Amino acid sequence: MQLLYDTDTDPALIRGRRVAVLGFGAQGRAQALNLRDSGVPVTVGLRATSSARAAAAEAGLAVAEPAAAVAQAEVVVVLIPDEAQPAVYAETVAPQLKNHGVLVFAHGFNIHYRRIVPRADLDVVMVAPNGIGEQLRAQYAAGRGVPGLVAVHQDASGQARALALAYAWAQGHGRAGIIESTFREETETDLFAEQAVLCGGLTHLIIAAFETLVAAGYAPEMAYFACLHEVKLMADMIYARGLAGMRESISSTAEFGDYTRGPRVIGGEARAAMQAMLKEIQDGEFAAELAREMQAGAPTLRAERVRARAHLIERVGEALRTRMAGGKPG
Ligand SMILES: NC(=O)c1ccc[n+]([C@@H]2O[C@H](COP(=O)([O-])OP(=O)(O)OC[C@H]3O[C@@H](n4cnc5c(N)ncnc54)[C@H](OP(=O)(O)O)[C@@H]3O)[C@@H](O)[C@H]2O)c1
Repeated sequence: MQLLYDTDTDPALIRGRRVAVLGFGAQGRAQALNLRDSGVPVTVGLRATSSARAAAAEAGLAVAEPAAAVAQAEVVVVLIPDEAQPAVYAETVAPQLKNHGVLVFAHGFNIHYRRIVPRADLDVVMVAPNGIGEQLRAQYAAGRGVPGLVAVHQDASGQARALALAYAWAQGHGRAGIIESTFREETETDLFAEQAVLCGGLTHLIIAAFETLVAAGYAPEMAYFACLHEVKLMADMIYARGLAGMRESISSTAEFGDYTRGPRVIGGEARAAMQAMLKEIQDGEFAAELAREMQAGAPTLRAERVRARAHLIERVGEALRTRMAGGKPG
């Protein structure tokens, strides 16, 4: 896989164009500030009722209603929550965006699953940071950058790829490395990783192991430290040195347990479940289920949040974290 850097981009392509950033949340704030500091004229599009208006104005950014921000701009960056994007595109962006404008996304979901079908005259690209908004801004401000993915969905002008690279430059991605991808690849790998590893896999692995120890009579506090707290130590080592590097740092006992017991936890059944989940992502079944959930007012999400919050691991964890931070248990 080839990485691209600042020298592979043409900053003039973005510097000369007014950009409307819709949203001033995790990504909107970071990207609007990075654009401004890269010399790109930027307007933040926020609803009149938005509590983020004051923060954007205090940061010295121009703020306008979303429709007005889009109408002034040649490039529109959609940085509101994924579930809100289809309605905002239909009601605000499509009617206002100039002919031959550019649409930028930070995640491929709505385009890939055709929940947004952009006008044919538009360039449609993705510039997806490999990091949360806070890191994107902090790295840029420190003269560094986080890596980013770029992809082109629709190239009406013939310049969509060059424009996406210029936008990636303005976000500092060219300092760390820009990876070329597709909307499909980004969306499917992102969903799969969050379901199998980062969110679904990790949380359920922790809970199952915690419950196993507690059911066998071990103290919940011991189970919390062993199965949850130490995850950070392992994740930091894996992040810095890879799996093999981490294994060099652990004891031979831990390493032997890893090789011989790990495959029993993640065995044939878990791998078959991963295959099935990947298929549901690829054939659109997961996206359709999520759309039905949101349309119904998120009943599963609400119920699961309440259930998960009430779990013993949360009460034990809260008390231990308070004590570790030097506070008194509540
Ligand atoms: N979170 C990350 O760091 C991260 C990382 C990579 C990619 N992404 C992608 O970046 C995009 C933005 O995600 P995010 O996490 O930055 O979003 P977010 O923080 O949840 O976005 C909040 C902002 O969106 C505005 N907003 C919400 N609903 C709106 C609506 N219906 N109309 C107009 N404005 C609305 C809010 O304005 P109000 O104040 O008016 O509510 C607020 O300014 C998504 O595509 C996401 O997948 C995010």
